[in-house]
Amino acid sequence: MSISWKLFIAVSCLLSLLSFCSALQTCESHVFSGGRTFRTCSDLPVLDSFIHFSYVQETGVFDVAYRHAKMEPSSWVSWAINPRGHGMSGAQSLVAYRNSTTGLMRAYTSPIASYSTILQEGPLSFRANNISAEYSSDNEMTIFATLVLPPNTTVVNHLWQDGPVMEGGRLGMHAMGGDHLKSMGTLDLLSGRVLASKGGGPTTYMSRVKNAHGIINAVSWGFLMPLGGLAARYMKTYDTLDPMWFYTHVICQSLGYFIGLSGGLGTAIFMWRSTGFRFGPHSIIGVVLFILGFLQILALKARPDKDHKYRRYWNWYHHTVGYVVIGLSIYNIYKGLAILQPANTWRIVYTAAIGFVGLVAIVMEIVQFEKQWGWIFSCCRGSNAKDAGSIVADEV
Ligand SMILES: *[C@@H]1O[C@H](CO)[C@@H](O)[C@H](O)[C@H]1NC(C)=O
Ligand SMILES: *[C@@H]1O[C@H](CO)[C@@H](O)[C@H](O)[C@H]1NC(C)=O
Repeated sequence: MSISWKLFIAVSCLLSLLSFCSALQTCESHVFSGGRTFRTCSDLPVLDSFIHFSYVQETGVFDVAYRHAKMEPSSWVSWAINPRGHGMSGAQSLVAYRNSTTGLMRAYTSPIASYSTILQEGPLSFRANNISAEYSSDNEMTIFATLVLPPNTTVVNHLWQDGPVMEGGRLGMHAMGGDHLKSMGTLDLLSGRVLASKGGGPTTYMSRVKNAHGIINAVSWGFLMPLGGLAARYMKTYDTLDPMWFYTHVICQSLGYFIGLSGGLGTAIFMWRSTGFRFGPHSIIGVVLFILGFLQILALKARPDKDHKYRRYWNWYHHTVGYVVIGLSIYNIYKGLAILQPANTWRIVYTAAIGFVGLVAIVMEIVQFEKQWGWIFSCCRGSNAKDAGSIVADEV
């Protein structure tokens, strides 16, 4: 045999060995500290997680280790069995996190009654013994426990999750997007086979509602509102665009408000009712926005005539509230993105859209510098400040 043939065979063998190895579960090569061993293991499909267990069907004794790789020390991890359904509600969970003061791991059981859980400690519907947790130097968190399941159980619904530990040791809500909504499935206790949930359950449905909430509000509050503000500020300086600017402005603002009201608030209330969402800064800003938006609409009714002496004050009020609404809206869209954590594309698309609006605003400020800001300089050059101010105000 020639050298090249030997080389060829050697490389082929190596490649087939490699592909054979990669077909094996990566969990199988894991070695636990303290000589613990488990009969079966599975690589879970999402969240860098692995499940190891030994199970005796006749007694229901289920020795389990749940590992989550790539964890920050300030995180919690949880693995749960749900004897009643697929999702989080009713899940019997094991929870672990690292105490930032002592550096020690705390592990405990938490039955989850509703989506508003804060993972408080409590007894499970089955026995759970020997609960402990480890945080290894390679950033892996592991929960160990011995559960006693009803005898003859063969398949369980399980779910796993991670989230942040907040200041004061409160366990924060897990992310609401991507893999965090896919971390559930069924586990065959005899074969170790893990089947991911096919979706269609309440969680997938909720994620659609959340996406709808995000898109509707990004378009209405996050885009139409600033766009309408732009129209009012820059179009009205051209006589030929009068009264077109006014209609553009009114249409953008009212479309924004009513789309936001029906779709945005509707989905928010739905989410709040069905998940027990906690009322955080994002929701408070949302409510403030609806109130300010409503006041803007009411203010139209009270708008004095163009020549009325109070028109200046009305304009001042209307513009200030308008800019506050636009600023808060954009801020709240980003806050919402941070809560929902959708695929990065969404953030990029929104940033591009609002960046475009911002760019147009900058260009228009430069183009219309004289018209928009001229009154400041005319005032300081000694002409009648009051007149100059009121001219601008009256144009508005
Ligand atoms: C478990 O299954 C075995 C065999 O099917 C049966 O004999 C036994 O009674 C079952 N145990 C329980 C608690 O259901
Ligand atoms: C961390 O440990 C300290 C000392 O035992 C305890 O007082 C504190 O409540 C623990 N914090 C959390 C979040 O468990």
